[in-house]
Amino acid sequence: MFPQENHSNGYQQGPGVGYSHRERVRRGTRRSRASTSSVRVYDQHQPQHRPPCTDFDVAYFHSYAHLGIHQEMIKDRVRTETYRDAIMQHQSSIAGKVVVDVGCGTGILSIFCAQAGAKRVYAIDASDIALQANEVVKANNLSDVIVVLHGRVEDVEIDEEVDVIISEWMGYMLLYESMLGSVINARDRWLKPGGLILPSSATLYMAPVTHTDRYSDSVDFWRNVYGIDSEFSTW
Ligand SMILES: C[S@@+](CC[C@H](N)C(=O)[O-])C[C@H]1O[C@@H](n2cnc3c(N)ncnc32)[C@H](O)[C@@H]1O
Repeated sequence: MFPQENHSNGYQQGPGVGYSHRERVRRGTRRSRASTSSVRVYDQHQPQHRPPCTDFDVAYFHSYAHLGIHQEMIKDRVRTETYRDAIMQHQSSIAGKVVVDVGCGTGILSIFCAQAGAKRVYAIDASDIALQANEVVKANNLSDVIVVLHGRVEDVEIDEEVDVIISEWMGYMLLYESMLGSVINARDRWLKPGGLILPSSATLYMAPVTHTDRYSDSVDFWRNVYGIDSEFSTW
């Protein structure tokens, strides 16, 4: 857990995105002794739970930095209200408990958990949207409950076990964003035995389809490009 004095505004910036790879290598040599610093710098030794942050990761987190994508998700009432309903249905497991929100975005699920009576919520996001989340937390007078950690789940440190993990990790075709691994990382590092994960199961339905127009447009197209038989269709 970050030192108490760093919790005053509920916001922490961890290492990871926000720094170039070179900066991270340069900075990541020694733990800072300055307790008032808002930047936590980690030891050079890379624990197994901390995979490298690739350029792809940086681009991915950048794509979540702007409000537009979050507005789209929050406006999806089926998605957002299903999460709120699930939180309220599990209120007895959340009230008075410690929660981690893996990929908190604007902090909406963290706030639902606070409304359900959570004792403390660690709201983690590596994207700069964490800065907005922290403002939302402050505007709702929840800084004493919700601690926003700006960094990758794999990089931030929480110094206590948690009772609940909540996360909206589902991408296109369920697994597309590959975010489930981060939820599992959080589970393995912090969740108490018997703790709650929301959601903890999902069903993926698949059906084969034939879409001849789409096939022709994207595959057959390459068979004759201005009279050239291109190889691209076999890629
Ligand atoms: C689908 S959005 C959900 C946002 C928010 N929980 C909500 O329901 O509106 C996923 C969020 O997780 C963050 N994220 C994904 N992988 C992460 C990781 N390994 N560490 C920290 N944040 C992560 C992204 O930056 C993004 O903001």
